[in-house]
Amino acid sequence: MHPMLNIAIRAARAAGNIIIRHIDNIQDLPVNVKGRNDFVTEVDRQAEAVIIESIRKAYPNHAIMAEESGTHGNHDYQWIIDPLDGTTNFLHGFPQFAVSIALQHKGVLTQAVVYDPLRQELFTTSRGHGAYLNDRRMRVSRQKNLEGALLGTGFPFREQQRFEYYLETFRALSPLAAGIRRAGSAALDLAYVACGRLDGFWEFGLEQWDIAAGALLIEESGGIISSINGNNYLTSGDIITGNPSVYSEIKKLIESVPIK
Ligand code: IPD
Ligand code: CA
Ligand code: CA
Repeated sequence: MHPMLNIAIRAARAAGNIIIRHIDNIQDLPVNVKGRNDFVTEVDRQAEAVIIESIRKAYPNHAIMAEESGTHGNHDYQWIIDPLDGTTNFLHGFPQFAVSIALQHKGVLTQAVVYDPLRQELFTTSRGHGAYLNDRRMRVSRQKNLEGALLGTGFPFREQQRFEYYLETFRALSPLAAGIRRAGSAALDLAYVACGRLDGFWEFGLEQWDIAAGALLIEESGGIISSINGNNYLTSGDIITGNPSVYSEIKKLIESVPIK
């Protein structure tokens, strides 16, 4: 295993332990509001601190971009961290949240981990070496068409002005898909595309830490991820993904919806 992936896994497991330790006292956790419908707790902060500590111990000079503490350092290697993806779920005891850690080298994603601490599912990959769910190699689904596909999505709950556009894309896709799920953790949604539980996924207005690890998992599992209209998916935050067939159909339909 690549030593940097090893560090990422260790960090993700340590963060997962902190998250699980607090599960029985969610009600007592002070919650801060970062923005509209955007929450942060002491658990997010502690989980992030333990991840950064694990990384710094091994690679003191690497740069870090982390959701709660921001961007630090300047280095060819940059770690992209979401210590708890799905905070709203976590706060409600809704069992769908994860730790997401990715590493970029000169702007190319090279290592990734998404860890679901409740189910103890560890999704890992090193560029060029395939992707794994625990110890088993994973692949995207073989679903051939959008018709009959199970899709995931996320609602643009912060940016109200994009809601109408989003609804149009939903209207275009929902008559064809067998089902559409909004599970509430983008990192885990992407991991589910990678292992074939979802055939496709789309969401707008995500942040780099929501996407980075899941994107490499998907690419290494044979899937495709992109933005809309040729934009960079990591920086635009608008993503369309799936196995190659379902991805193409989703992309075509979404790009046929006029942007308002
Ligand atoms: C959120 C989750 C959610 C997505 C939001 C994200 P957070 O992350 O990934 O599924 O729809 O856009 O912000 O805030 O819980 O880390
Ligand atoms: Ca997130
Ligand atoms: Ca988060």
